[in-house]
Amino acid sequence: MIKVAPSILSADYVNLQKDIEKVDQAGAEYLHIDVMDGLFVPAISYGAGWVKAIRPITKMILDVHLMVENPERYVEDYVNAGADIVGVHVEATPHIHRALQMIKNAGAKTEVVINPGTPVEMIKPVLYMVDQVLVMTVNPGFGGQQFLPETVNKIAELNQIKKEQNLNFDIEIDGGVNNETVVAAYQAGATVAVAGSYVFGADDPAERITAIKDATK
Ligand code: DX5
Ligand code: ZN
Repeated sequence: MIKVAPSILSADYVNLQKDIEKVDQAGAEYLHIDVMDGLFVPAISYGAGWVKAIRPITKMILDVHLMVENPERYVEDYVNAGADIVGVHVEATPHIHRALQMIKNAGAKTEVVINPGTPVEMIKPVLYMVDQVLVMTVNPGFGGQQFLPETVNKIAELNQIKKEQNLNFDIEIDGGVNNETVVAAYQAGATVAVAGSYVFGADDPAERITAIKDATK
């Protein structure tokens, strides 16, 4: 069964605590927090202050996805704010190794992220040092986009490397995930599914979390 990471990007910001409690009680393992800087992606979302505010209200794993240029400038702030996992895009910095080292040294779990147009080859040198790889299944920047099926091959490729090299990172997918699109990704080796609009766009987010889990039994 896949672990579920609801993305608060699609939550009700005015009643955020209520929405977080709903997904927490529904058994979501992670809470996914999308940070956008208006440069790496067009939109601006929220920053470390939100992580700090959310930390005391849930025990869920706080999974911070930095869609930020040169994320090494900020990774320590997010760890200090209470992030459990900090994810950095390989496309966003010439110093991916340093960015991951900084996350680890600050005391959080490390995640490297690849866009749909980026090959697995790009992150091979750092796979030994990550706790999680995030394979973007849409182009980052917005919720509510359609899952790109061609990204599934990269999940399988990563799963193969994981076995061959005896590594044990989680493989997370993000974008366009629902109870149907999750199936092929899960079969290819995905272990964590981010879902924003599918979960928070429903009257009952708990039902949607269950639907993702049931589809990957
Ligand atoms: C997209 C973000 C996602 C987003 C997913 O750039 O990284 O986490 O919230 O939204 P859905 O699940 O609606 O595609
Ligand atoms: Zn995300």
